[in-house]
Amino acid sequence: MIYPVTVFGDPVLRKKAEPITKDFPGLKEFIENMFDTMYNSDGVGLAAPQVGKPVRVFILDTTTDEEGEPEGIVKAFINPEILEKYGDEWVLNEGCLSLPEIREDVLRPEWVRIKYQDENFREYEETYSGFTSRVIQHEFDHLEGIMFVDYLNPLKKRLLKSKLIAISKGKVTPKYRIKIPGK
Ligand code: NI
Repeated sequence: MIYPVTVFGDPVLRKKAEPITKDFPGLKEFIENMFDTMYNSDGVGLAAPQVGKPVRVFILDTTTDEEGEPEGIVKAFINPEILEKYGDEWVLNEGCLSLPEIREDVLRPEWVRIKYQDENFREYEETYSGFTSRVIQHEFDHLEGIMFVDYLNPLKKRLLKSKLIAISKGKVTPKYRIKIPGK
């Protein structure tokens, strides 16, 4: 099942998402639906608040990255905690399904060390670099109520203001279904 994607202006994207427990109803189906939603919109990552659920779950598939990432992964991260971000910051032109028609350069550190659970609540601790680290950092931000436009300088923010207002009013036409804030 494909969910509509929440967009800029929806309060769910600004909430700190809550951890989930083993009794979360239909977790496996929820994750499957998140993958369907992500693939339907050609995304490489998706966080639960982007489908209207303020819980600590995100997914990604970095195996189809155009940059030619040799070690992409397909994975769901449950209750993730970032233990460390380190290394030189590098720029990538980022996009976000919740910010249709906007792409901007964002600086993030190279490495990320993350602790998380899988859909069976088994715990892992792993380190990633490159494009996968980039997507993990972007998706984790969604669980903290952060969007990549928050990192832009005041001038860039000012230039984007009318575009952001248009998005929050649903005046955008991405190829996937969105949920217009407040509707
Ligand atoms: Ni995003």
